[in-house]
Amino acid sequence: MTSVVDVAGLTRSFGSRRGVIDLDFRITAGEVFGFLGPNGAGKSTTIRLLLGLYRADAGTVRVFGHDPWRESVRIHERVGYLPGEFALYPRLTGRRHLEAAARVRGLSDLSYRDELADRFGAELDTPVHTLSKGNRQKIGLVLAFMHRPELLILDEPTSGLDPLLQQEFLGLVRETVAEGRTVFLSSHELDEVQRLVDRVAIIKDGRLVVTDTVEHLRASAPRTVELRFDRDVDTGPLDDLDQVEVVARGHGAVTLAVAGRIAPLLRVAAGLDPVDMTVRGADLDELFLNFYRTGAGREVTDVH
Ligand SMILES: Nc1ncnc2c1ncn2[C@@H]1O[C@H](COP(=O)(O)OP(=O)(O)OP(=O)(O)O)[C@@H](O)[C@H]1O
Ligand SMILES: [Mg+2]
Repeated sequence: MTSVVDVAGLTRSFGSRRGVIDLDFRITAGEVFGFLGPNGAGKSTTIRLLLGLYRADAGTVRVFGHDPWRESVRIHERVGYLPGEFALYPRLTGRRHLEAAARVRGLSDLSYRDELADRFGAELDTPVHTLSKGNRQKIGLVLAFMHRPELLILDEPTSGLDPLLQQEFLGLVRETVAEGRTVFLSSHELDEVQRLVDRVAIIKDGRLVVTDTVEHLRASAPRTVELRFDRDVDTGPLDDLDQVEVVARGHGAVTLAVAGRIAPLLRVAAGLDPVDMTVRGADLDELFLNFYRTGAGREVTDVH
């Protein structure tokens, strides 16, 4: 697989302020890579390092095999970037912004640009300072996608978009990767991007705490199992099971969080002769919050 982004031991601090520390990840062509983390975790810093807007203190970054700090021009023509907070010229209309960007990029076929503006329902004819956050975001998205770049680097692209537009955005990203292009996107919430991304990296306090597929994360997320009884039962044996945690007891029921295989629990539970059992699917949110709270959960697994 062709690697589009290669990051190894990437470190950048700001005086005594922590920026990002020892990041390792790799993104291959045609992949949607989600970069998740709470406020101040280091998402935008990483993105700026990828674009050569910051210089690394240590480690290496390669985008299309180029060093962004020294060869940013060669990267920028192949990249579409949506900054987390982007500045537009307040008195200019969206249309003027798009025209200027098309000129800078030497874009002659404007049909895709117009199609995107249409799809997002971007308001192009009023000065951008009068636009709502969501409507400014639409213009930012058109600016990022309009030249059909090979790599899209999107810093919180869905912030401010209503559900319908999020849906539209989802479609656009799918089309983009179907053409073999690559999308890197940051977000606060796994929920927001889980249907979209192939792999996620979670960054916390400047360090990656996990890099994995959403599928794997889901498989390791705890399920909630409830057993009901029609009489008083000693549920003590459930305490000894690995990867099973008793969350609540009482009123003829016991609630468990199960992280691994369910078979060991079923064997013990059968001996307790319950009248009913319900299982609620993997709670990805809970797993995710755990990563945010503690940075724990699992070791970095699949870095490739
Ligand atoms: N130019 C800078 N000067 C000083 N500190 C900086 C600079 N850029 C980033 N930092 C610091 O690096 C850390 C990571 O910030 P970053 O903006 O990357 O977080 P983030 O994950 O994008 O957060 P958010 O979700 O709030 O956008 C913060 O502690 C921040 O203060
Ligand atoms: Mg940010």
